[in-house]
Amino acid sequence: MTDKMNPEAPPAQRQPATAIIPHRHNKRIFDDASSYYQQQRWFKTRLTRYEYALTRTVLLQELTSDPGEHVLEIGCGPGTWTREVAPLVERLTAVDISDEMIRQARGYAGAGNVTFVHSDAAQFPLEQTYDAVFSVRVVEYFEDWKSVISRYLDAVAPGGRAVIITKTPISVYRGTGRYLTVGRLARRFLRRVLAREQPDEHPFWQVYLPPTELAQLFSEHGLQQVKVRPVIYGLPIFMRGTKQYPIVPGPLEPFFLILFALAWRLANALPAPLRLASLLFSESYAVSGVRPPT
Ligand SMILES: C[S@@+](CC[C@H](N)C(=O)[O-])C[C@H]1O[C@@H](n2cnc3c(N)ncnc32)[C@H](O)[C@@H]1O
Repeated sequence: MTDKMNPEAPPAQRQPATAIIPHRHNKRIFDDASSYYQQQRWFKTRLTRYEYALTRTVLLQELTSDPGEHVLEIGCGPGTWTREVAPLVERLTAVDISDEMIRQARGYAGAGNVTFVHSDAAQFPLEQTYDAVFSVRVVEYFEDWKSVISRYLDAVAPGGRAVIITKTPISVYRGTGRYLTVGRLARRFLRRVLAREQPDEHPFWQVYLPPTELAQLFSEHGLQQVKVRPVIYGLPIFMRGTKQYPIVPGPLEPFFLILFALAWRLANALPAPLRLASLLFSESYAVSGVRPPT
């Protein structure tokens, strides 16, 4: 998977090209990645399985779903979290802009109580409220994230919850994989200068959402007990990882992962301001909140 085709890659640039509707370009990239995204992102290596375990723990802890509930998932992708949450609730509606991702999700997480909807999250009609709304690694792909997320926060029923997990903007994980090697410089030179390749006019659209702004949005839309906490946690130092500084060899991974998991527990137990500061060591973070019952 090249950087260009990697939905997990850092933003190519922060503003979209004006000539195209960026989400159409993103959709094509997610369609292309649909057959391998889940395996590559969550299950391929010990490290990705560690990241999966942390993400799953935070999601389920914050969602605290009850069997009678109707839950909405934004950007279900290949159904990784759909399959985790569906057995815990009465109904789950899962929305995604990529029909190929939805096809994968049907195969992986299709169950009698799950309804898949092929739609841009910005267009999905919110005609009812939901007991819980959640999203994992999706909102960073929204062009106008504040207005799209606001719609979903307003759709949280009294007594309901919202949980959004997204990538941390300022963290030791940002910038990894961008460091230059002689080989990369040479390839870039050959492509740009000798082959006269133009820079990508249609960059993959991605922004990193500031945790305090996202938390504030939750409060502005009436959610209380708004909490920000780290999700994927540690240091990007594994030789076998993707976009990491290649320092720790494979055999030493378990030792470091145990250390990081302990540090994650500690960070999650910190008071709110220190927990926010601890995001410096998080690849992703969660914001959650509860709408008071009327
Ligand atoms: C990085 S994947 C994450 C998938 C899944 N949530 C997970 O954590 O494994 C992002 C997903 O968001 C979807 N997505 C991106 N922009 C979207 C939008 N505007 N509306 C709905 N889905 C969107 C993509 O199609 C893709 O399936």
